[in-house]
Amino acid sequence: MMKGKTEDSGIFKIRNIPENPFLLFSKWYQENQVKNIGTNVLCLSTATKDGKVSARNVVLRRLDEDGFVIMTDCRSKKVAEMRENPYVAMTFLWVQEVNDGDLQVRQARAEGIIKELPIDDWIDIYDREPLYCKIRAYVCHQGQNVEWDDLKEHHDELHNLFVEGSHTLERPDHVRAFKMDPSMIEFYETEGDQIADRVMYLKEEDEWRMTRIAA
Ligand SMILES: Cc1cc2nc3c(=O)[nH]c(=O)nc-3n(C[C@H](O)[C@H](O)[C@H](O)COP(=O)(O)O)c2cc1C
Repeated sequence: MMKGKTEDSGIFKIRNIPENPFLLFSKWYQENQVKNIGTNVLCLSTATKDGKVSARNVVLRRLDEDGFVIMTDCRSKKVAEMRENPYVAMTFLWVQEVNDGDLQVRQARAEGIIKELPIDDWIDIYDREPLYCKIRAYVCHQGQNVEWDDLKEHHDELHNLFVEGSHTLERPDHVRAFKMDPSMIEFYETEGDQIADRVMYLKEEDEWRMTRIAA
């Protein structure tokens, strides 16, 4: 019988699992900030009341001790869905090369209820936005049909007003931030040719309970 050689196999183990999933999340988040572009991007899944799902990538604007903050246009499809059904899912994917060229693959998933934040809790996030993002907040009605030439004209007008000092690009009312308070956070990790390991945290009466689950 031929002995299989060329392929390798193993089982990856996630070690030092903390009691609070936010500790593990922030560790992975920070480790990937260093090497990985797009580290703060997550896939946000929303659904209508009758279960029609949609998903898109957004930026994680802030990681709190108890939740994940995003910023968006409240006239958008996602916000319409969040308002009729506040249950959302967030999925993070972080891939990077480690040690001897193996790929380290990490996924974090969170599910829970999303709520709008009061403006003074997060206005600094809008204020730190680069110029093009502030102009976009004015000229783009997210998700609406648009003529490129009209958009360009509007952009250039506003840009000129800003440059000459007659417009400060304060936060327009439709730019809002939302925080997801997770009731489930799950971590998946592997390196190279190994079967991934997964740990799942469920929140029960304000306590996190951790279990290991199969990949
Ligand atoms: C990497 C990346 C980051 C993004 N970040 C945001 C964001 O922070 N907020 C946002 O409203 N849209 C963001 N977008 C655009 C969304 O993916 C999406 O096109 C938009 O929010 C409209 O989604 P909706 O029509 O489902 O509401 C981002 C897109 C990409 C590719």
